[in-house]
Amino acid sequence: MNLTQTWYAVALASSLGPQDPIGITLHGCPIVIWRGSDGGLLAAEDRCPHKGAALSRGCVVDNQLRCGYHGWTFDPAGHCLEIPANKPGVAIPKRARIRMMPCQEAHGFLWLWWDPQGAHHAPEPPPLPAVSHVPETGDSGWRQLEGEAVWTAHWVRILEGFLDLTHVPYVHKSTFGGAAANELYTSEEIVAGDSLYALIDTPRDQNYRSDQASNPFLRLWGSLRNQEGESNPSGVQHLHLWMANLLLIRVEFRDFMIYLCLVPVPLGDGRSHLLWRHFRSFLKSPLADGNALKRVKRFLGEDKLILESMQPFEPDLDGREDLLLASDSLTLALRKLLRAKREANLILD
Ligand code: FES
Ligand SMILES: [Fe+2]
Repeated sequence: MNLTQTWYAVALASSLGPQDPIGITLHGCPIVIWRGSDGGLLAAEDRCPHKGAALSRGCVVDNQLRCGYHGWTFDPAGHCLEIPANKPGVAIPKRARIRMMPCQEAHGFLWLWWDPQGAHHAPEPPPLPAVSHVPETGDSGWRQLEGEAVWTAHWVRILEGFLDLTHVPYVHKSTFGGAAANELYTSEEIVAGDSLYALIDTPRDQNYRSDQASNPFLRLWGSLRNQEGESNPSGVQHLHLWMANLLLIRVEFRDFMIYLCLVPVPLGDGRSHLLWRHFRSFLKSPLADGNALKRVKRFLGEDKLILESMQPFEPDLDGREDLLLASDSLTLALRKLLRAKREANLILD
């Protein structure tokens, strides 16, 4: 499902250093991203017009992208400035250029404006989605972790999977899924433009606590918390989705908060590159990172198993294949948004 004329988060910002370009894939299109000398981001189709080498195997020299095969060098507008094997005075052909794409950095991700059909005559892209609540990198109020994985699952199925509340007691029964399915309901849902928001009352999860108790740091933290008189208060969960592909889950209890940013990047070959950023407001010592990382990977693994089993692979926006009910309201809301995109001819085959 190739949704166009939209911003996609496509990589973790930390994956791109100041020197070397990186290669990513979006909807089957290889793309090279690099930093200009002023720190700004540049992106282009990852194919050298000379013999087709991946430019992401090259290097950045004085704000120019140099192909690693024969050294053709491209400026930030995509024009070839130098062909080292040319004899002096030989003109550089007009066709020696690469197609540039708008690219920006925000919220710890690299973002790409995806408009494969209008690339040569596109106006300036609209601003990035109005993503909010993602803690700033380096914010001392949070300890941050991030990671990535490749799942053989459709990117929209993955978004739907993280908007799905009632799977938690089943898919995550051995980790944090202690609540009953009919206790997980949204008390507020808002669809605004290309974003979805839901507020969910979240009972304190006994399994979640007992799982944490195996770790000495969490045990200590738990006992300190109990001394302060906290007794399993319930909390809230906020779900945000900004199209095309950034989802933020904010779990907020009185004594701790966990935020999780999830980004499935459609690779176009039946797989999705899942990027995630995790923020915790408690146990901010790096000593607790190993346990936190293990827990994130464990529950993401639970989601992966079920999401890779979905049939049909691509969700049917018209609902002929699935039997969605009122308790699937967020999945229904996302499919409605996507149907509107399809009607506006913004989904390519
Ligand atoms: S393939 Fe890039 S310079 Fe030859
Ligand atoms: Fe899940």
